[in-house]
Amino acid sequence: MQSVSKLTNLRGKKVILRLDLNVPLKNGEITDTTRIDKVLATIEFLLKQNSKIIILSHVGRPKGKIIRELSLKPIQEYIEKKLNEKINLIEKNIYEIKKDILDNFNEKILLIENIRFYIEEEKNDVNFAKHLASLGDIYVNDAFSCSHRAHASVCEISKFLPSFSGLQLDMEVTALKKITSKITKPVTCIIGGSKISTKINIIKNLISKFDNIIIVGAMANNLIEHNGYNIGKSIREENVNSIVNEILSHSKEKNCNIIFPEDVVVANDLNGQPKIKELNQIKLDDMILDIGPKTVERIFDIIDNTNTILWNGPAGYFENPNFANGSNEIAKKIIEKNKENKIFSVVGGGDTVLLINSLNAFKNFNFVSTAGGAFLEYLEGKELPGISALN
Ligand code: 3PG
Repeated sequence: MQSVSKLTNLRGKKVILRLDLNVPLKNGEITDTTRIDKVLATIEFLLKQNSKIIILSHVGRPKGKIIRELSLKPIQEYIEKKLNEKINLIEKNIYEIKKDILDNFNEKILLIENIRFYIEEEKNDVNFAKHLASLGDIYVNDAFSCSHRAHASVCEISKFLPSFSGLQLDMEVTALKKITSKITKPVTCIIGGSKISTKINIIKNLISKFDNIIIVGAMANNLIEHNGYNIGKSIREENVNSIVNEILSHSKEKNCNIIFPEDVVVANDLNGQPKIKELNQIKLDDMILDIGPKTVERIFDIIDNTNTILWNGPAGYFENPNFANGSNEIAKKIIEKNKENKIFSVVGGGDTVLLINSLNAFKNFNFVSTAGGAFLEYLEGKELPGISALN
């Protein structure tokens, strides 16, 4: 993997820069800018070298459809302000764009509208990738947090252009390499959030590496249901029974404790009144939105007896303060242990970073990765397709 930071001959070069600008948005406002802030250095580096930049990124999972709420517009405005540099958001069909587009504008930076508005992106489509590549002279991947995706703008594109890693990707890979060598047992991994389909397969492969895996957030719902409880209207992943079975049997073989909620906080909907319930009290119109106090205590106990903690994904629907208690309590407990120098802690994932940011606690973690799924797959020891493509 060769870093773009080593290049000195970029004057006038057109750089296709893949970033992960997938930041949380609420009513068109960015609620956490960490992912953007971390890649500004790469844009600044390229501007200083007098290159012209075409930025590619996704936001959310539009699955090949144009969804106005998932436009990159708020992100364009934010970067413009931060860099004090005009950016042109290109909304027209990407196939109508040709390489000379950068010559036709005064702006040095173009931002292509959400790349996942095109179904070809997630299919790693060769012609789509070829077209993206035809717009530039070199390709730079500074989206570590997307590098576990074999998608056209992350993977296939690198076949058609000289390809390099960006500054933030370099930093994340170096830090994670160092971290994985520093892990001391007992090791606990807390996995939460709502991306069940992304993470449930990963858990299976993490079992042999960890002493405890604590499953919270939406993913825990599948385990709760598997254990015979009603989960009402809660989010669940369909067709994962055999994976759940494998997780449970594999964990026994490997002596890894799988912990999932003993009690929960439910409401009728995302804005409903919170109620603490035992698992056998969950009703058909209940939605599980946080872990309950007994579960928090159990997690505290495990954290007290662990040397390394890796955390990815909140424990509940923390965007609503009524359901943020579990996530906040976990964060505060890790911060306390970290201050006493009693734990080595690493967190990853967009939502978890937002949470840590809201507690102003970046400094109380040994490393904060912008990546969620990519971070977990890296821990699995898997080669990430976006990184292999650069090699
Ligand atoms: C992330 O948020 O982890 C990355 O942006 C990848 O998003 P995805 O899980 O929708 O591929």
